[in-house]
Amino acid sequence: MQRIKPINIEFDTISLFAGIGGLDLGFKYAGFNLIWANDFDKFACLTYQENVGKEIIYGDIRELQDEIPKHEILLAGFPCQPFSTLGKLQGFSDTQRGTLFFEIQKIIEKHNTKVVVLENVKNIINHDKGKTFDKILLELDKLGFYIYYEVLNSADFGIPQRRNRCFIVAFSKKYFKKTKFEFPKKQKLEITTQDLLDEKVEAKYFLSKKIINTILGYGTKGYMAKPTIDLPISKTLTATMAKMHRASQDNYVTDEKNFVANNDETRTNIRKLTPNECRKLQGFPDDWKQVVSDCQAYKQFGNAVTVNVSYAIAKEIFKFIKLNKL
Ligand SMILES: C[S@@+](CC[C@H](N)C(=O)[O-])C[C@H]1O[C@@H](n2cnc3c(N)ncnc32)[C@H](O)[C@@H]1O
Repeated sequence: MQRIKPINIEFDTISLFAGIGGLDLGFKYAGFNLIWANDFDKFACLTYQENVGKEIIYGDIRELQDEIPKHEILLAGFPCQPFSTLGKLQGFSDTQRGTLFFEIQKIIEKHNTKVVVLENVKNIINHDKGKTFDKILLELDKLGFYIYYEVLNSADFGIPQRRNRCFIVAFSKKYFKKTKFEFPKKQKLEITTQDLLDEKVEAKYFLSKKIINTILGYGTKGYMAKPTIDLPISKTLTATMAKMHRASQDNYVTDEKNFVANNDETRTNIRKLTPNECRKLQGFPDDWKQVVSDCQAYKQFGNAVTVNVSYAIAKEIFKFIKLNKL
């Protein structure tokens, strides 16, 4: 990935629900000054500290409100929760309090945050018949922001993975002129999953003869799926892919060379992706250190924002700030 030479822009940035820092790395590479991050998953914090920066704090955001430093930009790839369903049970005021979006809202209000970047699954737009998304937009509007949102696919940013995520970018009316913010333009995909496969792969990643029919089957009544392997553009990596025993939900590749080299007769020549291949399919750098188990690493990469996508957005925000600051 071609990176902009970081220049010291005066905007200090914090990241909530940081995970292993997919959003954070893209913003770092674009020159933003990351000063504070948080997650309540201790393994994600370990990986972040080893690879992204020491600024991550382990703990539940609901208990850390007083520790959040002064900042200008807030990043948050937050878990999606319904507003209205909770509301039905607990009344309107508790509706907001019960959700993690409310934590974000409180921080923005207290710190006069200038730019907000939110990330979520594509389906947040339709979640709870659109009410969740409407509520988020309404609250940002009430806080005085120009709001833009778009669904971006990692496959349009140089990464052979179909991963649609919704990004909301909001600029405070107090600090910016009203000009349309442009999301990054799609790029032509020049590589396939096969170009990213590891040279040497251990036998443990290959499917055993015993389970291959289940894994590459059509599923059961509750969940039917068409078996596909060797996809040039991988299916979305998921946080639960470590389980890898669900019919046709994850990515599998044929790897004759390593199958022959490993010489294990209990296995087939089809295998799952290695954590290192998942790293590449999420745009994390080559000098990445895996400091957790394979199971945790799969979960972490499955949860992350693709770095190429966050980098592309960060560059556009950078341009916008330069041109439109009041
Ligand atoms: C989808 S992941 C975030 C991906 C990440 N933002 C990125 O850029 O790669 C959501 C994260 O939110 C964290 N999380 C959920 N609830 C939390 C809470 N109450 N306090 C802190 N972290 C929380 C989870 O541990 C998970 O790592």
